[in-house]
Amino acid sequence: MINEALNTLSDQILAAIRRRPNRFHSVEALARAHQCEKSDIVFVVDLLRQTGYEISADRTGAYAFVAAPDLLLAAEITHHLKTTMIGKTVYAYKSVQSTNAVATQLAQVGAPEGTIVVAESQTQGRGRLGRRWFSLPQAGIYLSFILYPAIDPIKAPGLSVMTALALADTIAAYDSMDIQIKWPNDCLINGRKAAGILTELSAEVGKVHYVIIGVGINVNHHRRDFPPEIARTATSLRAEMKEPVRRIEFLQRFLIAFEHDYHRFQKSGLKPLRKRILRYAALIGKRVSLDMRGRTVTGTAVDIDDDGNLILDTPQGLHPFNAGEVTILKKQ
Ligand code: BTN
Repeated sequence: MINEALNTLSDQILAAIRRRPNRFHSVEALARAHQCEKSDIVFVVDLLRQTGYEISADRTGAYAFVAAPDLLLAAEITHHLKTTMIGKTVYAYKSVQSTNAVATQLAQVGAPEGTIVVAESQTQGRGRLGRRWFSLPQAGIYLSFILYPAIDPIKAPGLSVMTALALADTIAAYDSMDIQIKWPNDCLINGRKAAGILTELSAEVGKVHYVIIGVGINVNHHRRDFPPEIARTATSLRAEMKEPVRRIEFLQRFLIAFEHDYHRFQKSGLKPLRKRILRYAALIGKRVSLDMRGRTVTGTAVDIDDDGNLILDTPQGLHPFNAGEVTILKKQ
């Protein structure tokens, strides 16, 4: 059998045995139902086991589905995924340089809206401001969304804030932890960074061609996993909850939350989401300095407006800012 046919058969066999977990299916019956050789069935079951699926066999050689691996496989992400558009097309990789880079290439050739690119690890994960994103294999979720929103490009920064909100809500559903959004795009748990968002845009005046929203989530990292330069500021869901989290389940919940908020964002911008955003907003009421590639402004953060701008109360009055790196200033 050629590769593509094998992949299709493998998906079909997985679906067939998964429908009734722990029930045995004979090789003969599976081969008959899928019009292939018995040796093909044995071959694809072996492949599925190598991928990480737990499939048991009884004395007669019949197979039963036991458990799926917690791996970012397209079949797992889409299995019973309750979204209508986000994550309906999935590109899943073991390792890529950057999921944002792959997503950009796919967007340039017209991948459908809502396509996601995920990877178990990244060799050159991109962070904001030219930084690297630490992408520990099989511990985090490294994900990029491809979107074509019909919005003015100046509204695009709002998408980062919207994504941070969907992420904060997804994390909050797990445990009662102190979850904050540090404008514009960091998700903090108990004061440390658990996730970051990198939004990249292709646009002309008044028109967005595509938006890539890259999200890096530290899920099952142990504290000792983080390199020294971020060891004091980074955290993971596992480190805070003291137990591992099934990444597939987390990702599916996040995709549902994201789709819900994205639909609202497309209709009415951040306005209907603002109340929820402000509930998580770490900076409001704090004295901060905002660094915009060398230019620094100091003031008190008072609001996040409908376009996702941070409003600072400065000695020159209230000013909106749409980008920058914020540092919370200690009280004098
Ligand atoms: C930040 O600096 O806080 C943003 C980090 C964004 C990292 C994610 S991981 C998936 C996607 N692909 C990348 O190369 N970067 C983003």
